[in-house]
Amino acid sequence: MVYQATVSAPVNIACIKYWGKRDTKLILPTNSSLSVTLDQDHLRSTTTSRADPSFTKDRLWLNGVEEEIKPNSRTATCITEMKRLRANLEAKNPNEPKLSQFHVHIASKNNFPTAAGLASSASGFAALVKSLATLYQLPSTPSELSLIARQGSGSACRSLFGGFVAWEMGSSPDGSDSLAIEVASREHWPEMHALICVVSDDKKGTSSTSGMQRTVETSALLQYRIKHVVPERMKLVSEAIKTRDFNTFAKITMQDSNQFHAVALDTEPPIFYMNDVSRAIISLVVEYNRVSVDAGGPIKAAYTYDAGPNAVIYTLKENAKEIIELIVKYFPQANQFRDPFGLFGENGVQGKVVD
Ligand code: DP6
Repeated sequence: MVYQATVSAPVNIACIKYWGKRDTKLILPTNSSLSVTLDQDHLRSTTTSRADPSFTKDRLWLNGVEEEIKPNSRTATCITEMKRLRANLEAKNPNEPKLSQFHVHIASKNNFPTAAGLASSASGFAALVKSLATLYQLPSTPSELSLIARQGSGSACRSLFGGFVAWEMGSSPDGSDSLAIEVASREHWPEMHALICVVSDDKKGTSSTSGMQRTVETSALLQYRIKHVVPERMKLVSEAIKTRDFNTFAKITMQDSNQFHAVALDTEPPIFYMNDVSRAIISLVVEYNRVSVDAGGPIKAAYTYDAGPNAVIYTLKENAKEIIELIVKYFPQANQFRDPFGLFGENGVQGKVVD
């Protein structure tokens, strides 16, 4: 008998940012967050898990390279938690094979290049947890699995769903209510698109994990943000998504990206994630929206930046082509510009490669 399962999970990009943990081991956040899943086929992690009595230890390969699973690491925690769920199922169904007692081999691959500058930990941990859930034939819901993916990487809990997803911070010290829920499906607002502008594929900088911890320890602005800003924004953005109100969605998304980068700057020592090109893209989007609004039109684009310089621009499909053309016109030196939604056909749009 071969016990093996292959699944994939998508990348997600937050419009209300998660930044800060109240419990670093369980990965419990200091605020709720909300994201849009990029659920196109070409931005996914695909993971195969296999359990076999002949395996002598748990092993993991990422993009073909074996990674050590250190005791008590996030990967080890996810595997242990999934085996625990399987053991519970076996206890209830004595005829089930005792897969929880076998070691597992896990191989994960991203179908997007590392050079795309997208964090792969979210899709990676979501795919890992989902593949073990499939292998173990667990009846768990995506929200239940999000409790475990969260312990791999916080943002991973949001990649268990497609569409629009909230990670509710919860209040329980054991983390049992810190989970992801679907706000709306992809089908609810199919016009929503995300354009990824690769500003730099440089891997250097401060990781999310260490950066956010430093922010928690040193930023007064973060305390204000988590108490007085995020709760209201979560409500407003969820409502905007439910009513397909792009204007409100866009305004809050840009404000929240700005505030996330402000708390990074308020950290000691300060953390800079955006660079001059990132800021120039902000100016372009601001100007693009101003021209539209001054003519009595809507806000047409919303930028957001994670812990790096690359821009993600949310827009409705009708404006996507115009924005891509604008970016390519003003940033011809950008070394890559991808069109993950196929608006420009198979090969997408490529900016000029300078070096
Ligand atoms: C800026 O989920 O990568 O992308 O929980 O320490 O693994 P860990 O952090 P991670 O942080 C993501 C931070 C962010 C915002 C977000 O995705 O909400």
